[in-house]
Amino acid sequence: MTLASAPAKLILCGEHAVVYQRPAIALPLGDIRAYARVADEETGRGIRFSAPDLNRTWSAADAPNETLSELARATLHAIGVAPADVHITLTADIPIASGMGSGAAIATALVRGLAAHFGRALPPADISALVYASERRFHGTPSGIDNTVVAYEQAIWFVRQAETATGAPPPVIEPIRVAAPFILVIGDTGRRSATRLPVGEVRRRWQADPAHYEDLFDQVGAIALQARAALADGAVGQLGALLNDNQRLLEQIGVSSPELEHLIAAARAAGAAGAKLSGAGWGGVMLALVDADARSRVGEALRQAGATRVLETVVGGDAGVEGVGGG
Ligand code: MEV
Repeated sequence: MTLASAPAKLILCGEHAVVYQRPAIALPLGDIRAYARVADEETGRGIRFSAPDLNRTWSAADAPNETLSELARATLHAIGVAPADVHITLTADIPIASGMGSGAAIATALVRGLAAHFGRALPPADISALVYASERRFHGTPSGIDNTVVAYEQAIWFVRQAETATGAPPPVIEPIRVAAPFILVIGDTGRRSATRLPVGEVRRRWQADPAHYEDLFDQVGAIALQARAALADGAVGQLGALLNDNQRLLEQIGVSSPELEHLIAAARAAGAAGAKLSGAGWGGVMLALVDADARSRVGEALRQAGATRVLETVVGGDAGVEGVGGG
């Protein structure tokens, strides 16, 4: 039996614009994870799955087009093991469709688990590529940032490259330097929103008015650039205003929601230096930048404002993610 896992993720800034080749910054949330347990099956039974959180079991043979069936087959092909008889059990602490990358984390845990079960070591780039191919089938035009931050499990600067006639050059992936640790409080609206829906809507709007959306994406990209410089300089004080500016642009792009804005306003009123939605939007989570004095006040304010889950993470420090209540 082999157990593998992969972290949740958070987009600090640059979501949506990153699909259109602007830079973005993403962080792994190491203490919130998805798990894949891989055990040998009886010979001839093929690949079988259990997802107890979803009350589902299926076999790759009966559901060959299922995203995870395809990913399991592609992984076995990549490591040169086929056919295989395995039972894969998938679980996650990450709420589905919350903006925290549950899909990429489950897929990454699956790839890591299969490779480890058969004694193969796959480098992060190969794991990321397998998961990206799978996400592309599922949600159309992903930038690749989710699978990358989850597979590399470190804070990254990510820039997707434009497709050329000969295909897509690999994205720019660089580690982010965080000179001074900072604290984020994360509030979950409890409203689930599948990534592909807002991503598809933004594409339609961009196609209808490319000049306007290109300008908004440029402004988001400029914020990511300034945020990277602020993090590298330890100038956490500048980050709050950048997060607020990013939120204003996300509202203009059309991916915010009344629930998100309610939590964002509550966090700011309780003393957060800045707050924004994180991920695809229309639901899911928001994040707030806080100092040590404001962290519990902001967490409490988010719970009072209806957050279904409140988490904290220290970025650039040794501490991990903590639940501070709310389920
Ligand atoms: C989702 O975590 C981030 C989006 O920018 C989509 C993507 O990059 O594929 C909304």
